[in-house]
Amino acid sequence: MEIRCNDKLKKLPPYLFIEIDKKKKEAIDKGADIISLGVGDPDMPTPEHIIKSMQDAVSKPVNHQYPFGAGLLAYRKAVADWYKSRFNVTLDAAGEICALIGSKEGIGHMHLGFINPGDVVLIPEPGYPVYNTGTIFTDGVPYFMPLLEKNNYLPDLDAIPQDILKKAKLIFVNYPNNPTAAVAPKSFYEKLIAFAKKHNIIVAADAAYSEIYYDEKDKPISFLEVEGAKEVGVEFHSLSKTYNMTGWRIGWVAGNKDIVAGIAKVKDNYDSGAFQAVQEAAISALTSLQTCVEDSRKIYKDRRDALVAGLQNLGWDVKLPKATFYVWAKVPNGYTSAKAVSKLLDEAAIVCTPGNGMGQSGEGYVRFALTVETTRIKEALERIAKIKW
Ligand SMILES: Cc1ncc(COP(=O)(O)O)c(C=O)c1O
Repeated sequence: MEIRCNDKLKKLPPYLFIEIDKKKKEAIDKGADIISLGVGDPDMPTPEHIIKSMQDAVSKPVNHQYPFGAGLLAYRKAVADWYKSRFNVTLDAAGEICALIGSKEGIGHMHLGFINPGDVVLIPEPGYPVYNTGTIFTDGVPYFMPLLEKNNYLPDLDAIPQDILKKAKLIFVNYPNNPTAAVAPKSFYEKLIAFAKKHNIIVAADAAYSEIYYDEKDKPISFLEVEGAKEVGVEFHSLSKTYNMTGWRIGWVAGNKDIVAGIAKVKDNYDSGAFQAVQEAAISALTSLQTCVEDSRKIYKDRRDALVAGLQNLGWDVKLPKATFYVWAKVPNGYTSAKAVSKLLDEAAIVCTPGNGMGQSGEGYVRFALTVETTRIKEALERIAKIKW
C-alpha cells in the first residue's frame, strides 16, 4: 500500500536540527573528532537538587496518573512567584499561566487555537522554525519579517504592508533572540504593544533564553513587564535552557487569560498535560537558590569570550552577544552559509548551523552554540585558523 501523507506534512521544510544531527552522525561514523557547536542543547547536566526532587516525586502514586489541565496549581504559583521576583510582573496563577510540555509544544499548538485558514502569521526570520511549522499545519499564511543587523535584529513593524496587516492575526517575537543573540529594548515592546492594539494582532513573545545573559546591566526584560502587554499577548517560557533541562520537557505560557485559555483548550484535546513529577521538579528549580543558574552563566561567559575573541583575531566579523548561548558570525570572504558550514565540517570537523537554514536573512552568517567546554572551543579555533578561506 502506498502511504499518502497529509499535504501539509509535505510542505514542511526538513527540520533543520535533525538534518544537522544527521550530518554530525555521518561524520562521526567516518571517524571524525567532531566539535559540535550546532544544536542549542546545553551540555551541562541538570543540577543535582532538581534531579533529587524528581526522584522523590516519581515515587508518589498520585503523580502516576494523568495530570490533565493547565498544570499543578503549585507549579503555576511557582511560575507566578518567579515572574514577580525576576520581572516584578504580577500573574494570576489560576488563570494566566498554563504548564507546557516544553515551550516548543505550546508554540506549535498555539496556532490551532487562533489561526483560521488564510490568516496571516507574522514570523521573524531568521528564527526558530516552529513559528512557521504551526502556521503550515493550520493553513495560515506566513509573512516573514527580516531581522537585520542594521535594525539591531528587531523586525521593522512599519515595513509590513497594509494588506498583510489586515489579515494578520498573530505575531511572534523572540528575545533574547535565537539565532542572532539580539536583545529587545523596552521601547521595542512598547511599539509592539501599540502595533498589536491598532491592528488587533495577538503577540506571542518567546523568552526561552531570558536567563542566559552575561552582565547584570544587560539583564533581558520580559514582554509582560511592559504596560499593556497582558491586553494583547502572552509569553512562552521554558526551564530547558535555564536549568539544563531540555530533555525533561517542561515550560509554560503566561499572560492574557483568554489566550492562555485558548492554548489550554487545544492541549486538553491533544495531550493530557506535563508529567506531574516533572512539574514538581520544576517547582524545585524555580524556587530554590538560583546559584546553579549563576554558575552556568559564568561558564557560558568564559566560552563566549574565548570564541568571540578567537574569531575576531582570525578576522571574522562577529560581535560579543549580550544574551543567549549563541554566537552569530558573518562568514569570511563572502562565503554562503552553506559553503562555510561544509568547509567547517569537512576541513575542521566543526558542526555549526547555517544562518540561512533559519531564514533567508541569515544568509552569509553561521550560528555557533556555546555548548562545549572552553578547551574544545579553543581547539575549534585552532582548527579554524588552519582553514584557507
Ligand atoms: C527560540 C526558542 N524557543 C523555544 C524553544 C523550545 O524550547 P523547549 O521546547 O525546550 O522549551 C527553543 C529551543 O531551542 C528556542 O530556541
